[in-house]
Amino acid sequence: MNDLMRDVKEVLLDEETLARRIAEMGQQITKDYVNRDLVLLCVLKGSLFFTSDLMRHIDLPVTLDFIASSSYGESTRTSGVVRILKDVEERVEDRHVLIVEDIVDTGLTLSYLIRALKLRKPASIRTATLLDKPARRRIEVPVDYAGFKVDDQFVVGYGLDFAGRYRMLPAVCVLKDELYS
Ligand code: IMP
Ligand code: MG
Repeated sequence: MNDLMRDVKEVLLDEETLARRIAEMGQQITKDYVNRDLVLLCVLKGSLFFTSDLMRHIDLPVTLDFIASSSYGESTRTSGVVRILKDVEERVEDRHVLIVEDIVDTGLTLSYLIRALKLRKPASIRTATLLDKPARRRIEVPVDYAGFKVDDQFVVGYGLDFAGRYRMLPAVCVLKDELYS
């Protein structure tokens, strides 16, 4: 067992549950994008594992690119200010773009990314997120593929971090209360 699991209060989504749902999402995306030129846009760093697992269930000649944005300091609340820290390298014009996120919380990050990418005239933009936290939404944003809905609590693991830590946990977990304070 991962030693960091000692800090975990509750496992919300275990490895098997994640794997099963991500396989389904990949199959759905495969159906929806047949004969389309699709680029997966992994939003660093949180959706690293999700993108890598999802991509292996998409049976199409997709390409992969990365974008990194930031809206958080070392806290569990968004600052509301989104910046692009690393931009896409691939051409997206006239291509179908699927933004792959770890979690949609307030929606500010995703809505900013969609706006920024639209300027580059893609054929379409859709979004896939492993987790959706609708209770915290501050801006309406289209979530086309959502893995799981989660309640308003801060989660870590399977790529998601708290102040940069806990990404390597194999499951999506809630940490013990004292760790968040
Ligand atoms: P939003 O802009 O508020 O929708 O936040 C999106 C980003 O905030 C995500 O891509 C995550 O990096 C981070 N985030 C939001 N909620 C959580 C959480 O519960 N755990 C870890 N990261 C989170
Ligand atoms: Mg993120």
